[in-house]
Parts: sequence; structure tokens; C-alpha cells
Amino acid sequence: MAGEDESQFGRKLLDSRFITPEELTRCREQQKELSKNGEQVTLQDVLMSEGFVTRSQIDRIDQSMDDDSMCRPAQQIPGFQIMSKLGQGAMATVYKARQLSLDRIVAIKVLPRRLSENQEFVDRFYREGRAAARLNHPNIVQAIDVGESGGYHYFVMEYISGKTVYDELQEVKVMNEHDAVTVTLQTARALEHAHARGFIHRDVKPKNVMINEEQEVKLADMGLAREISDYKTAQSEAGRAYGTPYYISPEQIRGEINIDFRADIYSLGATFYHMVTGKVPFEGATPSAVMHKHLKEELVPPDHMNTDLSAGVAEVIEAMLAKKRDDRYASTKDMITDLESLLEGGPPFQARKKLDPNVLENIASSGVTVSTATAEDLDPSVRPEDQVRRLTILVLSILLALSVLANLAFFVLAE
Ligand SMILES: Nc1ncnc2c1ncn2[C@@H]1O[C@H](COP(=O)(O)OP(=O)(O)OP(=O)(O)O)[C@@H](O)[C@H]1O
Ligand SMILES: [Mg+2]
Repeated sequence: MAGEDESQFGRKLLDSRFITPEELTRCREQQKELSKNGEQVTLQDVLMSEGFVTRSQIDRIDQSMDDDSMCRPAQQIPGFQIMSKLGQGAMATVYKARQLSLDRIVAIKVLPRRLSENQEFVDRFYREGRAAARLNHPNIVQAIDVGESGGYHYFVMEYISGKTVYDELQEVKVMNEHDAVTVTLQTARALEHAHARGFIHRDVKPKNVMINEEQEVKLADMGLAREISDYKTAQSEAGRAYGTPYYISPEQIRGEINIDFRADIYSLGATFYHMVTGKVPFEGATPSAVMHKHLKEELVPPDHMNTDLSAGVAEVIEAMLAKKRDDRYASTKDMITDLESLLEGGPPFQARKKLDPNVLENIASSGVTVSTATAEDLDPSVRPEDQVRRLTILVLSILLALSVLANLAFFVLAE
């Protein structure tokens, strides 16, 4: 531990009343004496051997020193006056600040030093941060700048006065359907703007969807570089309630490199699911268990979790959460069309369109000729999966009846 850190450590010990100033001086002298004899002895070693602190108490003090040191660089970012801490995520701390040149309030995200050691990450952070500052959309938190001060990298963005969807869910547990569709639609519009310009968010989740005081959605962290592997990041962030693995797409879990807009569709689908059911799509005791379920386990349909949910909303969520990305919406625009239709009380045609060819294909491969009625022709209020199920049962019943008749005829003739 460097000299400055060691004296800060001593101050923390005194503040926490682990030790008196006299005892601390005595331990310091003892440490010096032992070090003279060529032994590598730290102040912590002496404190522990004298019984003033335990290892876990030392770890806690170290942690709080790290937290304090996160505040120091923020105080020094040139051109900004730090006002308060807004929040803390797994990767960074976010502060409310005044940008002196323009006399406006902004939010500044300060990254910890450990991320600065990864040159590839730092390069990407600047590249993506600057590019994101050129994105401009009413549903995206406006990125303003990226910079470095005292070895800390930071990201300046529009300040949002409001709350995150995560905060909202903590309060209400389940959001009403109309609000959830509205939030999802506005987030989808933010994504469409970004996708059209080559950006993939990669971390859509309730904590990154903010709602301002005018009830407008603002998608946060757009264009923020993430650590190289989504899987690694997910592992490190996992385990905490509402952590990333609850919303991550199967292809990101598999570590695929050609992640596209459909990963964001999946994560938004998982967020939508959480909003309307009050539960994440897959729960598990460990991050790996959750990720395994994203890959393998069948989704419990959202309308089974919340029986008040309309069939249309359930269909859209299921289309967004398809495990194979080819089975999800073919474009962000198609998803928006369905969400707009839901808001007007209409059906999700785009989600059904994806299912219809399969309906006909399934029937054709069973070798039975039926009328070419589509699922929509049958009954628009019934979900296509249910329509397929009903149709299959009907065809099987006819086949069964025919075989019973054939058997009967055989016996009659045989007699
Ligand atoms: N532009 C902003 N304006 C106001 N508050 C913000 C802004 N950006 C982030 N915050 C607040 O800061 C908190 C921390 O944000 P951060 O992005 O570091 O982590 P997170 O998204 O909450 O979680 P995680 O670390 O899991 O990604 C957010 O939860 C939010 O409350
Ligand atoms: Mg965030």
C-alpha cells in the first residue's frame, strides 16, 4: 500500500474507532522496527497480530477507500462542478454536475481504474462514446462527451430527472399493460434510430430505461462500450437482483461475435415480460443457471403468468423472446408496427405473419389437404399457436374417426 493510501487507511481506522491515536502510533513504530530487520511487514499485518482488526474489517475499509477514490476524480473533471452522486452501477458511478461553459446540468459516468488498464476497452469507449454523441433522438439519453481526468475515464450525458423502469418495478411490481406497451414502444423507437445508424445497445434492461417527469422514455447507456465478452460481463454482474443475465440474449451468452439488432429485441422482450408479469423470464439460483435457461428452457407464456394480459401483448413478447434470432422480428420497424397496433387495440400482424407460413407448412407436412384458411381467418381473437393446436387436434380427430370406421368396415366385411 502506497504511503498516501496507508495514512488514509489510518484515518479510516481512527474514524471508525477501531483504535486510538496512541495505539496507531505504537503499531506504526512496531511496523518500522520489523521492517528494519528486512521483513516485509505492513501496517495491516501488525494491526491484525495485535488484535485491533480482523481480515474482513480490513477488506471493508479497503472497499470504502475505493469508493472515496471514485469521488475524488469526479471533483476534478475540468469544466464541471460535481453536485451529487446519482447512482452506482456495477461498472461505474454516475454524478449530477453543472457544465460550467453552458451553465447546464448534466450527468457524468466515471469508470473505475480497472477498466482503464484495458487499452482495447478504452479505445472502444472513446470511439463509441464520440459516435454516440452524434446520435440524436427524443427517446435516447443524449451523449455529450467522453474524456479523461487524473487517470479516470468519464462519459458526459444529458441529465434525466425521473426514474428508471427498475425503480418503477420496485415500487409497483407489475406495470399496467398500457404503460408497459408505451414504454416498450418508445424504447423500440430509440433502438430503431440507433440500429439504423449501426449501433447495437447490447444492454437493454430496466435499469437502462429511464422515464422522465414528462413520462417520456429515455434509453441510457447507448453507445457505451462494454467489456470485450458479454458472457464475462454477465458473469461479473450476475447474481445481483435484476442483473444483466436476466435480460441477455442467447447469442450473447454463447459469445457469438456477430451480434446484431435482434439481441436488443430479445433484451427489450425480456424487459417487457418483466414489466407485465412482475417476473423476469428466467430465474435461477446462479448466473449460469439463468443463462442456461435462456439457452434451453421454454418460456412460460406471459399470459400464463398474468392471466389478465391480452393475447396480442403475449404474442409480441413471445416473438421478441424467440431463442433463435431468425424467429424474432425481422426488423425493429416490424416490432414497432405491432406495438403501435397494440396501443390502438389492434392485433400484432407482424408477429402472426411470422407464424403463418409455419402453420401452413406444418399442415402440409402432415400430408392432409385442408382449406388454405390462415390463422387470422379462423378467429382473430385466438392466438396463432392455439389455432395451430386446435387445427392439429381437428385433423387428428378426423384421421382417428376414419381409422375407426375402416376397422369397423373390416370386421363387418370379415363376418
Ligand atoms: N443520464 C442520467 N441521468 C440521471 N440519472 C442517471 C443517468 N444515467 C444513470 N443514472 C442513474 O445512475 C444509476 C447508475 O447507472 P449505471 O449506468 O452506472 O448503472 P446501472 O445501469 O444502474 O446498472 P448496471 O451497473 O447493472 O449497468 C442508474 O441506475 C440511474 O439511477
Ligand atoms: Mg446504466
